[in-house]
Amino acid sequence: MDTLTALLTRTSQGALIEPAPSVDALNIAFQTALRAPDHRLLRPWRYLVIEGEARARLAECFLQAALQDNPNLSDVEQQRLLKMPLRAPMLIVAITATKEDPKVPLVEQTLSTGAAIQNLLLALHVQGFGSMWRTGWVVEHSLIKQALAVQPQENIAGFIYVGTPATPAKTPNLLNVSDFVNNWQG
Ligand SMILES: Cc1cc2nc3c(=O)[nH]c(=O)nc-3n(C[C@H](O)[C@H](O)[C@H](O)COP(=O)(O)O)c2cc1C
Repeated sequence: MDTLTALLTRTSQGALIEPAPSVDALNIAFQTALRAPDHRLLRPWRYLVIEGEARARLAECFLQAALQDNPNLSDVEQQRLLKMPLRAPMLIVAITATKEDPKVPLVEQTLSTGAAIQNLLLALHVQGFGSMWRTGWVVEHSLIKQALAVQPQENIAGFIYVGTPATPAKTPNLLNVSDFVNNWQG
């Protein structure tokens, strides 16, 4: 797949099954993430890979965090939470590991993480894997951050669900460039 085709055809895929990327496929995807634009080369990102049984342990963290906020959570909701990390064979936790720097504000470090994640998604896509970038309350909750050893100066940029697409990828609707792009002439 050429680069422009990859850029134009990547879509998010919610239904993901085994196999997850091989060690080699994952490694090349991370290499592309590590090539993200990065002001002053702070390397303000790191990743956790969660697969196999560890997904069930993450599910238990999700449940405990939700119960901390609402001890009266219904059984249905509890079961839904326990299934959440099992929606894909692999999860990648993308973390903005912010660094103190006089010239690079936190927003730039977050933007670098976003660019890195996009590289990761595209590299997975060209290798035939699907992904879905998810956030929500689980990226903010202190109990989940603690379980993942996310430090006070760090933020979870997303849980990236990764696997083999269970269904054919949708064809993305291309937007009109002119709706978003104008010439500025002063
Ligand atoms: C920072 C960020 C957080 C997101 N969080 C969620 C999420 O929690 N749940 C969700 O369904 N989609 C989430 N999305 C959107 C999807 O990952 C996806 O990009 C969107 O549905 C558009 O689909 P597409 O990627 O196929 O164009 C998030 C996207 C970004 C950039």
